[in-house]
Amino acid sequence: MHRSSEPFLSENQIQDAVTRLAGEISERYRNRDNLVLVVVLKGGTVFASDLMRQIPLPLAVEYIRAKSYDGIDFLGDVLLPVLPEQPLRGKSVLVIEDILDTGRTTSAIMKTLSEHDPASLELCVLLDKPSRRVVPVDAQYIGITIEDRFVVGYGLDHDERFRNLPEIYTLEED
Ligand code: IMP
Ligand code: MG
Repeated sequence: MHRSSEPFLSENQIQDAVTRLAGEISERYRNRDNLVLVVVLKGGTVFASDLMRQIPLPLAVEYIRAKSYDGIDFLGDVLLPVLPEQPLRGKSVLVIEDILDTGRTTSAIMKTLSEHDPASLELCVLLDKPSRRVVPVDAQYIGITIEDRFVVGYGLDHDERFRNLPEIYTLEED
């Protein structure tokens, strides 16, 4: 497998989406002083680092890690080996994820975090592939909606490669 030679989404397209999302989030949370961004490892880190620097509010950052197993269609098979360090009770929690695909991992993450009794719980994704959805998930902030393509770059990997690319590419057969 290799990446497409031309970007699928350019740095400008990505940064425009990041700026718009940061504006929406800053407006929504402007009167809160208890915002916690929960970044989903590993793919969400590049997006989150650009996004948080455009949110001029007091906030805390936590990380969560989810591992899902291909071919097994149920939420019980999503493991969460890294969890937030600080209590989320009473906090305004915003989950930052790279891409929403089947919805299995993300819905497991949202369910686990809701059990921590946050004051509010919302989801922000850079990319959404709605045609792939198996489990319904509500994302309040969506960067760019794309068709069913496997994409890499800007945090997104294929076998741990390509996360460092500043643009997003499609993955192609050799
Ligand atoms: P979901 O549980 O199927 O929604 O899976 C979401 C996770 O699958 C994302 O956080 C990514 O790690 C991974 N994923 C889904 N689609 C892609 C893609 O096109 N490129 C890279 N990773 C993807
Ligand atoms: Mg991911």
